[in-house]
Amino acid sequence: MRILGIETSCDETGVALYDSERGLLADALFSQIDLHRIYGGVVPELASRDHVKRLVPLMREVFTRAGVAEGDVDGVAYTAGPGLVGALLVGAACAKALAFAWGVPALGVHHMEGHLLAPMLEENPPEFPFVALLVSGGHTQLVRVDGIGRYQLLGESLDDAAGEAFDKTAKLMGLPYPGGPEIARLAQTGEPGRFVFPRPMTDRPGLDFSFSGLKTSVLNAWQQAGGSDVDSQTRCDIALGFEHAVVETLTIKCRRALKSTGLKRLVIAGGVSANRRLRESLGRMAHGLNGELFYARPEFCTDNGAMIAYAGCQRLQAGQRDSAGIEARARWPM
Ligand code: KG4
Ligand code: ZN
Repeated sequence: MRILGIETSCDETGVALYDSERGLLADALFSQIDLHRIYGGVVPELASRDHVKRLVPLMREVFTRAGVAEGDVDGVAYTAGPGLVGALLVGAACAKALAFAWGVPALGVHHMEGHLLAPMLEENPPEFPFVALLVSGGHTQLVRVDGIGRYQLLGESLDDAAGEAFDKTAKLMGLPYPGGPEIARLAQTGEPGRFVFPRPMTDRPGLDFSFSGLKTSVLNAWQQAGGSDVDSQTRCDIALGFEHAVVETLTIKCRRALKSTGLKRLVIAGGVSANRRLRESLGRMAHGLNGELFYARPEFCTDNGAMIAYAGCQRLQAGQRDSAGIEARARWPM
């Protein structure tokens, strides 16, 4: 089965062709980061309008690069939510129109299921069951995964998502959007131990998270150090202190999730799973429990069309189909 995947939930237009026999045939992405950067975050209306401009050229590009005739697919999968509703509607309307024109089924896919399954596109994919840590700009969740569609929520953030914490902390430090990669870059030359921030909710049982207090701790340290006048080394030291706190918090909870489920495989997915320090820390922890860590290549950790094509293919193969209407949901539990 060959599936065209379309992702437009936020600020990246992603398109890909996935074939159940041959794997990923081609993928293309346009990131709107430069468009939104001057506003310090994503402007929904600008995002929707830009998706309209990019979708068809990207779609043409993936067919050409895959050497597949335009429309020679068995279905079209698109992100139906959660995300920015205007942005979602662009992808959904485009997917439905193409599917109708080509006489194939369309299927709306859950964005976080796309992220969750992205590591399946790699050479050594994880086998079920596993524990997944989903860490994106909008979500932080620990999930027990027993198969496609068999998900049990173990814990989640009660306030900010991990990526959101990176973005908000970066913003208060005067760094550009998106903050995660910026903080990671500064942290590389930070001095360990100069700034130590709390590891929220690690001293009580359970698998939930809370990241909004951490941002406030950084704000206090930042202001005490002189605010926008801080020297560049202090900026790096604060970035490292923050990154350490997030990574250690996530590591403690993942360890707890592996121990409580008795599972050995840990999968990390979503934008924050591109973080090198997080990968190293979780890899060491999983190893220590005789387990194994799985993740996608960095460009498939953040939003992309390949994960939607893959997730859609699994569900279409299982016989799932959309209703006739256009599906776009700003909020949607997985
Ligand atoms: O999954 P994603 O592309 O979009 C959502 O579904 O939200 O995740 C974007 C988030 C942003 O908050 C961004 O700052 C964060 O992922 N991110 C990172 C890194 N790369 C992206 N956070 C920490 N370290 C990184 N290297
Ligand atoms: Zn995402």
